[in-house]
Amino acid sequence: KIYRASTTAPVNIAVIKYWGKRDPTLNLPTNSSLSVTLSQSDLRTHTTASCSSTYRKETPEDSLLLNGKLEPLTTPRSIACLRSLRALRSELESTNPSLPKLSTYPLRLASSNNFPTAAGLASSAAGFAALVRAIADLYELPQSPTELSLIARQGSGSACRSLLGGYVAWDKGSRDDGTDSCARLVAPKSHWPEMRALILVASAEQKSVSSTAGMQTTVKTSGLFRQRVEAVPQRMLEMEKAIREKDFEAFAEITRKESNSFHATCLDTDPPIFYMNETSKMAIRAVEAINKEAGRTVATYTFDAGPNCVIYYLEKDWDFLAAKLDLALDGKEGWSKERTSDAGGLGV
Ligand code: DP6
Repeated sequence: KIYRASTTAPVNIAVIKYWGKRDPTLNLPTNSSLSVTLSQSDLRTHTTASCSSTYRKETPEDSLLLNGKLEPLTTPRSIACLRSLRALRSELESTNPSLPKLSTYPLRLASSNNFPTAAGLASSAAGFAALVRAIADLYELPQSPTELSLIARQGSGSACRSLLGGYVAWDKGSRDDGTDSCARLVAPKSHWPEMRALILVASAEQKSVSSTAGMQTTVKTSGLFRQRVEAVPQRMLEMEKAIREKDFEAFAEITRKESNSFHATCLDTDPPIFYMNETSKMAIRAVEAINKEAGRTVATYTFDAGPNCVIYYLEKDWDFLAAKLDLALDGKEGWSKERTSDAGGLGV
């Protein structure tokens, strides 16, 4: 008999960034962070997990088929996730001996993204969140999304936020074992249904430093980083308030300042890390000009560890924003013409 479960997990884009680890093995962060979960119809990872006693004879190792390519599940991060999930299943099996001993069977995972992995969008977050959710479903684990976020965090820090929808905080926690470093729902998507995200894909491919490596170097070498760690707790409070009160003006201001502070810290790293390029700066200038012309805040921007721009705006402003962005960016070298979404698309 083959046991099987399938699931999808969405991408999340941080408006308060996770950058820096106090424990690189457990992925415990130096500051709390907050993200908006994007709509699953646009950007998501689909994962199927299966296990069977017959797999033992065929392929005794756990395996992962990622976008059609066979990958071993031997990285310490994957091993940590599988070990924690198996331990929870084995607890269930010991209290209920009639359950099949799934925890002892090899696992086979098949995972695919519905967006180009090469576009440099946050794929590890959706990837590890889907892996954890699929295996938790396969094992019929009773744990809540917040409890499962502790496991996803060990796969990739930002993945812990993709187990919940809407506006999600990752509280840094203070315990050494990380048991209080997990995701928390700030507000469901339905709280602020007018919020939209638009991703501008910078077509100029550039090789960038991985988040994992980049943040380690920042922690070691950047003086600005220490200031940032002190400033983020206040920013978290302000951001949660802006979301609670659906105050787009405040949300937008904190989001752009936070993105710029994060990239300044990257630049202050030795050797410096450049995630934004000239194309990215063009998007920033366009958004600043659009807000100026409107005489109010129509849109805000944020960039992760790459040149792509994520714009947040409210549904009612789509026509104005789209027209002005077309004028500002279309035909300019560096931007791929097609955007990943339109107004009806990338809701959050
Ligand atoms: C800039 O979660 O990819 O996107 O924990 O080492 O896997 P690891 O790092 P990762 O870092 C994400 C960094 C970021 C900001 C964010 O998502 O908060």
